[in-house]
Amino acid sequence: MVLASAPGKLILFGEHAVVFGEPALSVAISLRTRLETALSEKTTVNGRELKRGDFPYLDAGIRRSGFGEPLSINIDSHIPEASGMGSSAAVTVALLASLQALQGSFDKESIARIGFEVELGVQGRASPIDTTTATQGGGILLLKDRGEDFLWRIEKGGSVWNLHACHLPDMKLVVGSTGIEAATGPLVARVRALANRQEKARAAIGRIGEITLEGLQALRRADLSLVGDLMRENHALLNALGVGHPMLDAFVAAALPHSYGAKLTGAGGGGSMIALTDNAQRVVDAIQNRGGRAFVVATEPRGVLVGDEA
Ligand code: PMV
Repeated sequence: MVLASAPGKLILFGEHAVVFGEPALSVAISLRTRLETALSEKTTVNGRELKRGDFPYLDAGIRRSGFGEPLSINIDSHIPEASGMGSSAAVTVALLASLQALQGSFDKESIARIGFEVELGVQGRASPIDTTTATQGGGILLLKDRGEDFLWRIEKGGSVWNLHACHLPDMKLVVGSTGIEAATGPLVARVRALANRQEKARAAIGRIGEITLEGLQALRRADLSLVGDLMRENHALLNALGVGHPMLDAFVAAALPHSYGAKLTGAGGGGSMIALTDNAQRVVDAIQNRGGRAFVVATEPRGVLVGDEA
């Protein structure tokens, strides 16, 4: 039997634009998905036989890794599903680490690479941001070119992502969840369709890439008021790309009087928003008063773990 766990993530800047190869910045968070995996007589998940379509990321992960033997998998996840917090990447990465551990190996780069292929297969379109963040932990920066603290390079469909570890200051972020589950694949497809027909949408995607780089510089200088302005601008651009939701706007508006900035995070269409604040409890209360579920998360330096540590 092996134990493995991987963290969820929040995208600080750059979601959706990153699918087009623009820069993006994410951070692993202190919520994890844990898997207990053992060889078994038939493949079960939480005690029930795994049927096609039930757990698409697990099913695709087992197939893509080429692991031929039946498994019993038990999942214990603290990451809300389909809410922009990387739950599918965490379960995928924890599975791949478990399969490697059962074969006596542990190689983060191959976990991140195969994890990306799994997400891509299930979603149709994806960037490697979620799976690399779940694998590596800490801050992750995706750039077109190779820079400092380079981890690995992933290419697909004409896009190139150079993935980097990125030291970020400790941040307490408030997450406001709409409770509306929105699958990532159709939202990514919607942005693609808009970009194909609108120059304005293509310009928004390019500007989001610039915002990511400006946001990173501002974070490094601890200029949180500029970070906040850039979060607001990023949020407006994501709305213009059609992935917003009225509840996200309401939570952002509720958070802003007590925050440096706020924006939707992840795929949108429901899901979650984040606020950067020194006043976490007031932001939590403000979001809850608008009917959201809100909580504070800390950043998490540890990526995928196997064995007792997990
Ligand atoms: O909502 P999530 O956790 O699936 O994040 C999606 C981030 C996107 O940029 C919208 C898609 C991707 O694969 O990068």
